[in-house]
Amino acid sequence: ARVAVLISGRGSNMAALVYAAKALDCPFEIVLVASNDPEAAGLELARAEGIPTFAHSHKGLKRAEFDAILDAQIRGAGAQFVALAGYMRLLSPEFVTGWADKMLNIHPSLLPKYKGLHTHERALEAGDSHGGCSVHIVTAELDDGPVLGQTEVAILPDDTPDTLAARVLIAEHQLYSRTLADYVRRN
Ligand code: GRF
Repeated sequence: ARVAVLISGRGSNMAALVYAAKALDCPFEIVLVASNDPEAAGLELARAEGIPTFAHSHKGLKRAEFDAILDAQIRGAGAQFVALAGYMRLLSPEFVTGWADKMLNIHPSLLPKYKGLHTHERALEAGDSHGGCSVHIVTAELDDGPVLGQTEVAILPDDTPDTLAARVLIAEHQLYSRTLADYVRRN
């Protein structure tokens, strides 16, 4: 299956998907990495791996306008699925509808807990025993939609939001690769 990955920054989850796709039995390939921030660090890695990239700032464009540009690029690349990986822009309803059941996102919490930002801080403040990450189907609501997979990560007594985030990130990389592979096999 042909997958486009949308990023806004570091792109470590995108990198995990790119490396997972190198395995002979992986059912997906990354055909495009697109970013709404031309400075996103992940773009450089994608280019170095020989993956086509598209970078265009959303600034000065209406959300639906920008998303239409993005959509044209993704479809032009022949993508059948979209994987959001640290993509920090809300998507327009048109875009979400156009990729219904074909677009996944990774979120650094055990959904439905802690949608939005500062998930690790909130888990620590709540005194939770575990943080974690979730991969879900993207629907119109932020960080909503059916959860396809989760990994729990134990919280340690000395954890800070940063140390917890670093450990959850390791789990994210594995969960996303595995869940995306399962999903494209079934859909
Ligand atoms: C990850 O924690 C992801 O779950 C969240 O944003 C972060 C992106 O990191 N949505 P990276 O760009 O994949 O390294």
